[in-house]
Amino acid sequence: MGAQDKSIEALQEEMRLAKEELEIQRWGIAKTNEAIKTLYKELEKKNEELRNLSDLKSSFVYGLTHELRTPLAMIKEGLLQLSEGASDAPPLSQKQSRLFSIALENIDRLQRIINNMLDMAKLEAGKAELNTEEADLIALAHGTIAACKPMADKKGIELKERFSLAKIIIPVDKDKIVQVFTNLIGNALKFTAEGYVEIGIADKGAAVECYVADTGAGISKDDIGKVFGRFQQFKSAGSASYKGTGLGLSIVKDIITLHGGKIWVESEPDKGTKFTFTIPKAQAKR
Ligand SMILES: Nc1ncnc2c1ncn2[C@@H]1O[C@H](COP(=O)(O)OP(=O)(O)OP(=O)(O)O)[C@@H](O)[C@H]1O
Ligand SMILES: [Mg+2]
Repeated sequence: MGAQDKSIEALQEEMRLAKEELEIQRWGIAKTNEAIKTLYKELEKKNEELRNLSDLKSSFVYGLTHELRTPLAMIKEGLLQLSEGASDAPPLSQKQSRLFSIALENIDRLQRIINNMLDMAKLEAGKAELNTEEADLIALAHGTIAACKPMADKKGIELKERFSLAKIIIPVDKDKIVQVFTNLIGNALKFTAEGYVEIGIADKGAAVECYVADTGAGISKDDIGKVFGRFQQFKSAGSASYKGTGLGLSIVKDIITLHGGKIWVESEPDKGTKFTFTIPKAQAKR
């Protein structure tokens, strides 16, 4: 055997070994693939379980809050009648009146929380169907602004309208859009001690763009990413008088998303906040 034959043999041996190595690697990859597939299936199963749990939670919250409404309304009615006093009863003392008004204020707050949670649960459970009809967005905004006027006057805050058109008719769920304006303007008034709140609506071709801007407390960089989350409330100046639930903005976002629109926020602490949302003129098919 010559030196050349030997090196050919050695090469052949090397190739055989390399082939074996490749075979082993291929086997390893096949096994890994199988393992990934199994993991993926398990993940799907877990996701499905989580979805079911989340649905269960939503319908539980929905059922519970729904059940709470009637007894609460009855307690309120009873307290109201007691606080007004019967014609044959002695007038209430100052302390009694104060206790009644504290109790009634807290019932109002509880009712607001329950209504917010009901809205949220409805939206989450997909129970919230859009009741879409052609409506004038300008008129809806104008009506909401008028309803917010007493609160603005009480705080000495001006409500400004910046509407680029006299009318913009698009398909929307009127009640839900009014809720969006109410929540956004309500927040703006709540977190603004002085200055103004400006509401704008403009035609942007395929969509209508609306904004609610204020000259209030603003939201810090740390918090701004969380504003649309559920039960999120941050330390803001001027918010002490009204305790909310931190659900308003998440409801707003759900409603805008249901309409196929987008919402975003810009804010600078101590300067003000601007919420902008869009609503497409043609509703996407669902
Ligand atoms: N215009 C605003 N200016 C400053 N901070 C705001 C403004 N809007 C919202 N925020 C901050 O975001 C938080 C969440 O707002 P959101 O409307 O969801 O809840 P809320 O107003 O506290 O309670 P709810 O709306 O349920 O009664 C507020 O608590 C506040 O800290
Ligand atoms: Mg709010």
